[in-house]
Amino acid sequence: MFSFLPTNSHERIIILDFGSQYTQLIARRVREAGVYCEILPFNTPTDRIKSHQPRGLILSGGPSSVYDDQAPRSEKDLISIVGCPVLGICYGLQLMAHEMGGEVKPSSNRGYGYGRLRVVDGTTRLFGGLPAEIDVWLSHGDRVTKLPTGFHMTAETDEGVNAFENPEREIYGVQFHPEVAHTPLGAQILRNFLFEICKCRGDWSPAAAIDEQVARIRETVGENDRVICGISGGVDSSVAAALVHRAIGDRQTCLFINNGLLREGEFETALSLLKQSVHLNIVGVDASETFLKALAGVVDPEQKRKIIGATFIDVFDAEANKIGDVKFLVQGTLYPDVIESVSVRGPSVTLKSHHNVGGLPETMNLKLIEPLRELFKDEVRIIGRELGVPDEILNRHPFPGPGLAVRVLGDITEERLRILRAADRIFDEELRRADLYGAVWQALAVLLPVATVGVMGDERTYERVIAIRAVTSVDGMTADWARLPHDLLARVSSRIVSEVKGVNRVVYDISTKPPSTIEWE
Ligand code: XMP
Repeated sequence: MFSFLPTNSHERIIILDFGSQYTQLIARRVREAGVYCEILPFNTPTDRIKSHQPRGLILSGGPSSVYDDQAPRSEKDLISIVGCPVLGICYGLQLMAHEMGGEVKPSSNRGYGYGRLRVVDGTTRLFGGLPAEIDVWLSHGDRVTKLPTGFHMTAETDEGVNAFENPEREIYGVQFHPEVAHTPLGAQILRNFLFEICKCRGDWSPAAAIDEQVARIRETVGENDRVICGISGGVDSSVAAALVHRAIGDRQTCLFINNGLLREGEFETALSLLKQSVHLNIVGVDASETFLKALAGVVDPEQKRKIIGATFIDVFDAEANKIGDVKFLVQGTLYPDVIESVSVRGPSVTLKSHHNVGGLPETMNLKLIEPLRELFKDEVRIIGRELGVPDEILNRHPFPGPGLAVRVLGDITEERLRILRAADRIFDEELRRADLYGAVWQALAVLLPVATVGVMGDERTYERVIAIRAVTSVDGMTADWARLPHDLLARVSSRIVSEVKGVNRVVYDISTKPPSTIEWE
């Protein structure tokens, strides 16, 4: 399989991940400042780190104590021999202190939440241009009680040392988290590290990545070969396809397979939007019948996912064969999917076989092109906008690969899909009308496999229940139910009951993830 290897065409910062929940946030802040960076695991060999020719190294925070048996450590003497400025954050600072002969001890009161930082060395470049006192966000169990030889304290909180440095050796440490929004001047501190200490110029932007990727795609595909891309109607596949289109035009064929499980009008709308705006060479394949036949009578959610995944592969394979000699497959893989990180995934248990859906088999013998592999989602949106992908696609809520199959609980039939689609459309319309579509991470309707008693006019009814769910979230890993205005919920409920034949009750899902999940199946 082919995938892009990093090039060293931009100045870059390396972030070593010691397991902090904020590691990706450090990377995003660095990139927002215009400096390209990558996250590597804490134990990456020094030679590999040096091969990136980093302008600077950042050691992330992490949940461990340096005294834990299993505490993550970088390679011995890394800090001394890496040959570029180093910034340790939280656990990163403690590790530096510990390894260089200082002393780290458990705090009497665990430092968590806001703290007031006093800069005691007005000459330090790290805090250049900042007031003498600033608010910072703390999250640590240990603290530094003795500095390593050659270092001096640059800032403190009531608890004691909070930042130290050895400017001759270009080693800096902060106990607080400059990367989080709760440290309002944190971005300035990171910029000081990047521009004043590492002497970066800031030569990176998502838009600049377009030209770079276009050149790489052209080089990879050559003058004559053909490429295929599966389109789902979502952000990632659309932007990946638009990027490849810019590079090789109609030598890319996009396949948008209608599995019969999309939202109302979604297939037609996305197809025409992508044709008109980005001029993709895109083929719409209506395979609804094939999918619905394969799903008939299936109620188990995992079984549904497996059938949809397998059917997708069959249909895609058959359509790809019609195109003829194709050598490459485009995939919209994003950076968070490929970081070799200790913090991103944690122990992996298959709760739902998400990523098996749409995964294509290696037997297709296609080489992979993954032009978004180095980008975060917000950067993909910026690139998409530059490439002319419409906002309607860029701002779309996430939608699961198995689509409405996991929202029609129980049996999937045309009639039950009709009910769900109509209810889903009403919820979507009202959310947009209230200008709240962008404020929630995902909103959905679910058709429950039960009937309830109701009354309409003088008649007793015995009909279906629709559950509606809207969540706020950062990455879908955890989520809270959205506090939608009662008036909006009232409108959605009354419209669904009056406009969707077969429904007499609407409920709002007020569960958080965990312990629930976002989807019901
Ligand atoms: P859960 O339900 O696990 O969902 O909280 C988290 C996010 O993943 C989406 N999801 C899926 N996406 N195939 C997908 O491509 C799937 O089988 C699948 N199941 C859930 C879900 O919509 C949410 O955004």
